[in-house]
Amino acid sequence: MSRSGFSSGRGGQPYPPSGGDFTAFPDTFINELVARNDIVDVVSGYVRLGKKSGSNMFGLCPFHSEKTPSFSVSPDKQIYHCFGCGKGGGVISFIMEIENLSFPEAVAFLARRANMPLPEQENDRESKKRARILALNKDAARFYYEQLSSPAGERARDYMARRGISKTTATNFGLGFAPDAWDTLERAMREKGYTDYELFDAGLIKKGRNGGWYDTFRDRLMFPVIDVRGNVIGFSGRILGENGPKYLNSPETSVFNKGSNLFALNLAKKSKSGYILLTEGNIDVVSLHQAGFDSAVASLGTSLTAEQARLISRYSSQVVIAYDNDGAGQKAAQRAIAILEKLDLKVRVLQMSGAKDPDEFIKLKGPEAFARLIEGSENQVEYLLAQIAKKYDLKTDAQKLDYLREAEELLARRPSAAEREIYCRRIAAEVGISPQVLIGEVNARRKRLLRRAEKTEGVRPTASSERAREALRYDDPASAVAEEGVIRLLYLEPELASSPRLPAAEEFSSPELGHIYSVLLSRLREGRSVSADMLGGELEQKELSQLVSILQQPEALASSGRALDDYINRIRDRRRTKEQGLDPMQIYQQRKKELENT
Ligand code: UTP
Ligand code: MN
Repeated sequence: MSRSGFSSGRGGQPYPPSGGDFTAFPDTFINELVARNDIVDVVSGYVRLGKKSGSNMFGLCPFHSEKTPSFSVSPDKQIYHCFGCGKGGGVISFIMEIENLSFPEAVAFLARRANMPLPEQENDRESKKRARILALNKDAARFYYEQLSSPAGERARDYMARRGISKTTATNFGLGFAPDAWDTLERAMREKGYTDYELFDAGLIKKGRNGGWYDTFRDRLMFPVIDVRGNVIGFSGRILGENGPKYLNSPETSVFNKGSNLFALNLAKKSKSGYILLTEGNIDVVSLHQAGFDSAVASLGTSLTAEQARLISRYSSQVVIAYDNDGAGQKAAQRAIAILEKLDLKVRVLQMSGAKDPDEFIKLKGPEAFARLIEGSENQVEYLLAQIAKKYDLKTDAQKLDYLREAEELLARRPSAAEREIYCRRIAAEVGISPQVLIGEVNARRKRLLRRAEKTEGVRPTASSERAREALRYDDPASAVAEEGVIRLLYLEPELASSPRLPAAEEFSSPELGHIYSVLLSRLREGRSVSADMLGGELEQKELSQLVSILQQPEALASSGRALDDYINRIRDRRRTKEQGLDPMQIYQQRKKELENT
């Protein structure tokens, strides 16, 4: 891989930072550090590297015990990869692993080794700019908040009264009012010394057709979006009048990305409830907190992303989904379950009746009734099974059989044998058959599925290699292969980052791959170069290993543009199939059919 073409030393910290206590080092510094710590030299201090095979050198892996060498080091690519345990990365991540150090510590370690002084961790231009936008956002939030108690704010106060939002709650959330005018915010902020350019960067004003500026948020109830560190990173404004969409959110800015933040997580993270209550709407969140459910969050109008799930998992190991009571809400719940399960979060799903959303439910039936709903909420398997059962009339034998078939398909995919047995027993009792029969069928189906996955993926599920287990965990292997392809191509051919057809990370079926992809892409789009070492500061070790193992697959670079197109088409096709109203069961069935045809 070529390490030329570095941009200037823009070592800006990514926002929000993805992993751990990442400290930004300028790219130029990391580049020199890596150049002065040749991976073969460094690794040789710990591993006896044998003769070359191809361009790689092999040795016994220091990270797992083995008798034949499967640990490879590539002097050309300056990376290591173990074909046995799947670990991989660059020289910095090698030191992190073997010396058990954090990224900055490993950098310091290698700097000492190469006799290089560490750079000053000065606030570079990017982070100064971000700090300025955050300050501006805070001032804007204060301005909106003050407007709420001004004479002009009467409209908003009336609206809050109608929706039952108390003054205390408004203060807790820092709610505000954006007046029905074109430039009140702009003028107020300019008075405080902010430039139009800064206001624009923060998404607070827009450029009109006549070239003048106007306030983005007008005549709206304002919900500041505050991150877990207390920064105001953006706004969500609910319309009071008639003009425009119901909600308007801040655009993507250098401090705001909808998909990687949750509304009210700053408050919910302090909750003692032991779970995060995941809702769809800002108003639901506000109502719930007001009623004492202080762990409610909402996903800012996007369907739950892997990034948001990751964020939740930092604060709680259990999520109670309380989505709207309509078809869209239930579909969204099924998608959320799949994403949350991947992070090993305990998931429960709450089912309301007689109200369309938590806000309405609390108002109609009161907080105690909602607390009972939480207590009675089902875990995800119970929920999914109930969704299936709903479709059938279990009084007729024919429908019972259809129900069983779908339920078996679901249960065959549950990795825990105990879980499979418990639900088999329950369903067997429900339809009046013997549990042994059902358990037998589910287990047989599971074996078939595993065997087929093994065939199509070329991985043996019994093989102890980490990589094999990883591959099996892909939800949609066919799409994941294409997603890996996109990542590999981007890494190898950075120019492809400007391709207009590149998918959004949310289009990836695998949240893990989506995250690697988004880190990779955002670096490339900033004109920065990539190498395993550079990415080491932004990816977790597991992700870095995954990336390096993806890079081991061959890729035809001669027609990389076409290859990229093919991969993207595959990802989109798979996604479309899913989105055409197919629920998870139908996707299972479809995937099963595909497997049978191969
Ligand atoms: P809802 O329409 O359910 O809004 O959208 P809500 O917050 O429950 O408000 P009420 O009770 O109807 O007044 C759910 C979420 O989807 C996003 C917002 O984040 C909203 O809270 N959304 C909705 C948008 O981003 N834009 C829209 O036009 C509508
Ligand atoms: Mn709603």
